[in-house]
Amino acid sequence: MTRHAEVRACLRDRRLGRNFRHVGTEDEFDAAEPLDPRRQAFWDTERWSLLWLEPPEHTRIRKLVAAAFTPRSVESLRQPCHALARKLLPEGEFDLLRDYAQPYSIAVICRLLGVPTDRARDLLDWSHAMVKMYELDTTEAQAERATEAAGEFRDYVVALAEERRLEPRDDLVTRLVEARVEGERLTDPQLVSTIIVLLNAGHEATVNTLGNGVLALLRHPGQWQRLVDGEVDPSAAVEELIRWDPPLQLFERWVLEDGVELAGHRVPRGAKLALLFGAANRDPRVFAEPDAFEIGRANAAEHIGFGGGIHVCIGAPLARIELAAALETLVAQAPGLSLAEEPRRNRAFVIWGLEALRVAR
Ligand code: HEM
Repeated sequence: MTRHAEVRACLRDRRLGRNFRHVGTEDEFDAAEPLDPRRQAFWDTERWSLLWLEPPEHTRIRKLVAAAFTPRSVESLRQPCHALARKLLPEGEFDLLRDYAQPYSIAVICRLLGVPTDRARDLLDWSHAMVKMYELDTTEAQAERATEAAGEFRDYVVALAEERRLEPRDDLVTRLVEARVEGERLTDPQLVSTIIVLLNAGHEATVNTLGNGVLALLRHPGQWQRLVDGEVDPSAAVEELIRWDPPLQLFERWVLEDGVELAGHRVPRGAKLALLFGAANRDPRVFAEPDAFEIGRANAAEHIGFGGGIHVCIGAPLARIELAAALETLVAQAPGLSLAEEPRRNRAFVIWGLEALRVAR
C-alpha cells in the first residue's frame, strides 16, 4: 500500500491486525514463519508488547499506559526537554546522533518512565540490537545478538520492577508495577514487554527523526535560515521533517478475515500487507509538490508518520514536544551549523536513519 488514503484506511481497518495468533495458526497464515525457538528470549519480550497485541489484550494494557501520557504529564516534560537539550548539546564538531540525539532522547524517555540513566549506554545497545528483528533481512548473527540483548534487558527490567515494588516512587514504572487490570496485577512478562516497548519505541524513531531532519535542513539552507530567522516555528517544522523523511518506513498488517478487498484487489485471509509510510507521505493527492522540503507547509501534519487506528503512536504528543525542543535549541545555540562530513545511511529499511551525522557549530 503506497497511497496516503489507502495506508490510512488500512491502519484503521479492524479486519487487519499486527498479529494473527489470536485468530488463527501459523499454517493458515501464508507468510508466517514459525517463531524460532532459539530466539525465545526475544519473542518472550515481544509477547506482551503493545505493538504485538490485538484486542482485548491490547485494549487493557494500552489503557494502563495511556494514563501516563495524559496531556498534563506530557506537558510537564516540556521544560525538562528544553533544559536537557541545552545541557547535552556539544561544542565544536560532533556526531549529532551519538553525541546529541541519543543521550537526549534516552534521557527524556527515562525521565518519563522513572528509569535511571546510569545504564543509558546499555539501554541504547539493547534497543539497537533488538530492533534489527523488525528489518526485512535480519541475519542469523543479528538475531542472535537481539536475543542476547532481550535476555539482558529482561533481567534489568525485572530487577528494576522489584526495586519499585519494595520502594515505590512517583513514576511510571511504579504505577505499572502497582496497576491492576480487572483486579489482577500485571505479570512480570507483561511488565517487561510494556517497559521495553516504551523505552525502545521512545527513542529509536525520535533519534532518527532528528538525524534525517537536520540533514534535510542542512541540505536546504534556505529552510534552515527560516528557522534561524524565526519565520517558522520549530514545532511546525517537525511535522515536515517527519513527512519528508520519516524514521519508520514500513509497517505490516495481516489480513484476518475472508472477503477483504483493498484498493480494488481481493486480499485473502492469511496474506500480509506492507504499508509504505514514506510513499504515503509523498502522495501528490494530499501534498502539493510532495518532493519539495517546505517547513512551513500548511498541511504537513497530515503525514502518516505516527500511524493511526488502535496502534497509533501513544508517544506522539511527547515526540512532538521533544523534537521541537531539540530543534529549537539547535537553531538558537548553533545557527551556523554545517555538515562536517558526508553522512552514510544505516542500511536498514524499516527503521530508516543515518549511521552518523557529523556536524560542526
Ligand atoms: C518521531 C517519533 C516517533 C514516530 C515517528 C513514531 C511512530 C509510531 C508509529 C507509526 C506507531 C504505530 C505502529 C503501527 O501501527 O504498526 C507507533 C506506535 C508506538 N509508539 Fe511511536 N513513534 C515516535 C515516538 C514515540 C515515543 C517518544 C514513544 C514513547 C514515549 C513512542 C511509543 C510508541 C508505542 C508504545 C507504540 C505502540 C502503540 C500500540 O501498539 O498501541 N513512540 N509509533
